[in-house]
This record gives sequence, structure tokens and C-alpha cells, in this order.
Amino acid sequence: MRITPLLLLALAATGLFIACGPTGPTAVAPTTEAATYLEPHRPQLHFTPDAHWMNDPNGMVYYDGEYHLFYQYYPDSTVWGPMHWGHAVSTDLVHWDHLPIALYPDSLGYIFSGSAVVDENNTSGLGKDGQPPLVAIFTYHNPEREAAGREDYQYQGMAYSNDRGRTWTKYAQNPVVKNDTGIRDFRDPKVRWDDGSGQWVMTLAAQDHITFYGSQNLIDWTHLSDFGYELGGHGGVWECPDMFPLAVSDSDSTKWVLLVSINPGAPNGGSGTQYFVGDFNGKKFTPDPSFVGDVEDGRGVWLDYGRDNYAGVTWSDIPETDGRRLFLGWMSNWTYANVVPTERWRSAMTVPRELTLHRSPDGYRIFSTPVGELEALRSASFMLSGGEEASTASLTEKFAAPASTPRELELSYELQAGSTARFGVELSNDRGERYRIGYDAGRKQYFSDRSAAGDHAFSEAFGDTLDVAPRIATEPLVTLHLILDRSSAELFADGGATTVTELFFPSEDFDRVRLFAEGGGVRLLEGKGYLLRSIWPEAR
Ligand code: FRU
Repeated sequence: MRITPLLLLALAATGLFIACGPTGPTAVAPTTEAATYLEPHRPQLHFTPDAHWMNDPNGMVYYDGEYHLFYQYYPDSTVWGPMHWGHAVSTDLVHWDHLPIALYPDSLGYIFSGSAVVDENNTSGLGKDGQPPLVAIFTYHNPEREAAGREDYQYQGMAYSNDRGRTWTKYAQNPVVKNDTGIRDFRDPKVRWDDGSGQWVMTLAAQDHITFYGSQNLIDWTHLSDFGYELGGHGGVWECPDMFPLAVSDSDSTKWVLLVSINPGAPNGGSGTQYFVGDFNGKKFTPDPSFVGDVEDGRGVWLDYGRDNYAGVTWSDIPETDGRRLFLGWMSNWTYANVVPTERWRSAMTVPRELTLHRSPDGYRIFSTPVGELEALRSASFMLSGGEEASTASLTEKFAAPASTPRELELSYELQAGSTARFGVELSNDRGERYRIGYDAGRKQYFSDRSAAGDHAFSEAFGDTLDVAPRIATEPLVTLHLILDRSSAELFADGGATTVTELFFPSEDFDRVRLFAEGGGVRLLEGKGYLLRSIWPEAR
């Protein structure tokens, strides 16, 4: 049986989950002494909650030297339940401090996904002492209304903080956007200030389309337009949108990007994030004519072709002097998120990524790359010189460190004409478990093979091998940039044109690493390897 949010909602409505009061009865203390962060599978490089259930990243905002990360959180269990906003901050996007829960459910409902902004000019009037407030806009999900068969059980609420996000006050007149649409799935507001139209714009998911609202003060909202009934993937419910302008690389132009997560219906099963590229005129999003063809037939264009990057959105209020568009996704998939074999906590985020926009022969495409800040974690490195033999080298001795240590590889290959080589990186252990990720020149597909990588009995689909067509053809050159943690691989191939994020659960950490190449006709041009330090003080 698939444990989906909808099923869990049904369970919650029948009282199988203990609902929390407004003050939340059982918040876990942040970073308990018992936490080793070396429990089986605990990522060393990726954000995880200290304990219990996490899903989508929420409210990501940069303010006063801190990156805030809020997230969907259920503090009473390691499976999804009445949602809170968990909270962490970082000054470098790499190391995170766990903070107390920011938002608890109240009489209006659970606190579903949403966003946060710095209200720089105090348009809301909620600031104090001349300082701008942080304003969070989120979805209230009302389980009583849902159980009563009503349609208006999701609507948007607001909260604000005048102490650098440490404590939050719910706006007294919530909700700020009621739901008189007759649409049940009406959620995940992402808010940004739009200079062009001089207003706040809210991008909201409404079942099978995106709906935009505008406001002068973050409190009073008017409907602007709808988008997407006919375009892109529609195999599931639209969720967690984000819309922002992005400069087109090597040009003077800027385009608007609209991210839309859908579940199920992703090309590789279950949950995934598609995107549209176009223009926004302060009222309407119009896909670029060159992009329409890509999304007309329902296939969609996707941010990540792996199975484990969902509900990702970008940070708000990154200073112009930085100028990057920074993204974080939830590294899981609703098909099995609730049953993956972790014990103290469930789910991790992807590494923070920078999104860039490129004009390719196939049209506008987003490239994803790990943020440069992660390089500060590199503790040791080695070079691999090129050659055909080098493409089958063992790297175990070069990566001389405990098997729980995260690893990074940058590999570039050249294919001979007509090569059908299948090559890449293999992780393995003494239990005979092995994970492989790489490129198959015969089939012209990247692949991630977790069929023998450890436990996959918890979900029927988990053990399948994934094939991903390169998003941009680069043969005869193929480059693999890999970030390997204890239970995940993130592949940024061909400069970030093709991204594949995948989980795996070996019964023992993979202690062996090697390059493999089968079928001939492939040569490693150059390789670099890095050992990465853990981001958790307890494990350092
Ligand atoms: C996406 C999602 C959101 C919702 C939240 C509930 O994963 O289903 O649409 O707000 O999770 O936890």
C-alpha cells in the first residue's frame, strides 16, 4: 500500500494521530545529547531534523546574515502527521543549528507548506522599532472541515516575527486568503515582491493549475490570474510552486521560471518537480513560445530526473550582491517517504543548489549545481590522470577514511565513436551490496542502479534501475559531478544540465569505491576526488 499524504490525512482525521494543541505538547528538544548523528543511514552532509518526521522545505529566507530553513515537521512520530514548521538556521548554507519549532497547529488547522519574506518597507505594518518584520505565509489545513466533507479546508494564513525569526506570532485576523474556490487542494503559497508591478505576488497551487494573487500589504490579496490547466505534467496534484526571474546565461535577457511539484506523475514515478520558462507581466505568467512545445504534450520538463528531489523551492531575499538563485529540495518521494528504513528521524534535504538558466538547442533549460560553499567541507583530495585503464580504477585507498565519510567526485570522460560503454562509479560493501551510477553510451542514458544497494523491501518500486536521457547532448564528452553521502547520490552531469538525486539504504556503509567501465571505447580524461567533513558537530 502506498502511504501518501492523502492517506495520512485520512488517518489523522480518524484520530489515529494525536493532534497537537496550539502550544504543541511534545516538541523534541533541539539537538539532544543522545544524538550521535551516526545512526545507520544518517546523512553527514545533508540537513536532517534531529528527530522525527520532516518533509518539504518551507519559508526559506535570508535575513541579517542567516539562511532560515523551516520545514514540514511532525514532532511526535517518524511518519507524517499534523504539520508544524520545524526551524534551523545557517550562516554558511552548510552547517545548521536546530532551533525550536516555529509554528504549531492551531484551531484553524495544521501548518502546511509556505514561504517567508523580509517585509523591508513594513508594508504589513507588523514591524517593530523601525525594523522590518519577517512574514511567513502558509497553508492552514483544517482536518475537521475535511472530515466534515467540506471543500474549503485549505486556506492561507500568516505569521510574523520581530526577533530574527526566533519567535512567531500568528496574524490575529487569519486566514488572509480564504478558499471560496471549491478547490480542495489550494495550498503552498510562495510570496515575492515584484518590482515591475509594485506589489507582493503570491504563487499558489490549486489542484491542477497555478493561481496568482497580488497584494500591497501581505494581508489583503486579490486574484490576478491562473496558469497551467493545459500545460505540463498532470499525472498528479500540483504542489509547492515557486516563481522568480532568472538571468539567461551569456545574454542580457531575463526570463521568469515557474517551478511546480507534482505528486504522483513524475517521469520516474511518484513525486517530481517540473518547470516552465516564460514571462510574468505583473498579472499573468505566459510561457515562452519556444518553451510551449516542450510542455504541450503533457510530458513536462523536470528539474531533477532522479526519484528523490521533491517540493523544492528557492530562498527569498538573497542579497543582490550575491545574486544567486538558491534552491533546496526534500530528498524523498511520497511513494515511500513514510517507510524508508531510518529510525530516529525521517527524511533529509538535498544539498543547497544554485539554479541557472541556459538557452540550449532544445530551448530554455535550468542547470543545477551544488553551491560553492560546500567546497569548504573538502578535507582531502586526489587527482586521477586520464586513460582507458583509469576508468576502472579502485578509489577505496584514495578515499582513506571511515565509510560514513561523504565523498565527492568530478570525472570527465571521452567516448570513442560508436562506443556502447556503460561506465561510472560503484559503491559497495562486504555484504555484497552495491550501488552504481553513471552513463550508458549504448542506450544514451544516465542510470542509477540501486537494485542491489541494500534494503528496498519497503517499497515495490524502490529497487528498479532508473534511466535518464541526458537533457543536453554533450557526447563525445560526458562529465559526472557526484556528491555521495551515506544514503544518497546526487549527480550533476554535464555541468548541471542533467541532475539525478537518488536515495539508497545499504545495511552497512559502503566502504569501497571504484570506477567501472564495461564495453570499451571510453577513456577517463581527468578525475578529482574529495573527502568531505561532516556538517554535524557531533560527528566531526
Ligand atoms: C508536498 C505537500 C504540500 C503540503 C505538505 C503537507 O509534499 O503535500 O503540498 O503543503 O506536503 O505536509
